[in-house]
Amino acid sequence: MKHLIQLTVNGQTHDLVTRAERTLLDVLREDLGLTGSKRGCDLGACGACAVLLDGRPISSCLTLAVEASGREIVTVEGLAQGGALHVVQEAFVEHGAVQCGFCTPGMVIAVKGLLDERPHPEDAEILEALSGNLCRCTGYVKILDAVRTAIRRMSGGRGCEALAADGSDLRPSQATRDRSGLAAPATTRESRA
Ligand code: FES
Ligand code: FES
Repeated sequence: MKHLIQLTVNGQTHDLVTRAERTLLDVLREDLGLTGSKRGCDLGACGACAVLLDGRPISSCLTLAVEASGREIVTVEGLAQGGALHVVQEAFVEHGAVQCGFCTPGMVIAVKGLLDERPHPEDAEILEALSGNLCRCTGYVKILDAVRTAIRRMSGGRGCEALAADGSDLRPSQATRDRSGLAAPATTRESRA
């Protein structure tokens, strides 16, 4: 059975006809050509497909397109403005937090969602916000450095001096990974293989 839905994506409204079982990720990538949101696990476990739905990060692979009808969606394509990267994207590039880049759209969306709600998050809140986003390349350190830089810049240079001065290793501990489902860095996984 087909449904008429209306999605507002990155400020543009789209009237679409879709089958009930199709996900928001299907429609974004296949109907709207917005391929920034990645299809990783397709199970809600990796975060690569994250988008903001009414301002909150969700897994678009687990959300039916019909459920998103009438709601506001922001994908990674909607963050850059006037050809300029969003401050979070810029910080990821500067810190080398983008390696293969597959996880990056979901990471950036998760961070954007966090900072919109909590402009000055504690370390634990950053880790919690990223706990559903897996990266096989960076070891997470560069990602966390990038988030700190973005926080500082979005605060006009204030707000994360303690983080920057601290210099502590913010890589998620094994205990945090166990709790959150964060994957171990690729090198660790390889050494265990
Ligand atoms: S593709 Fe959606 S969480 Fe992995
Ligand atoms: S940069 Fe490759 S998976 Fe994160």
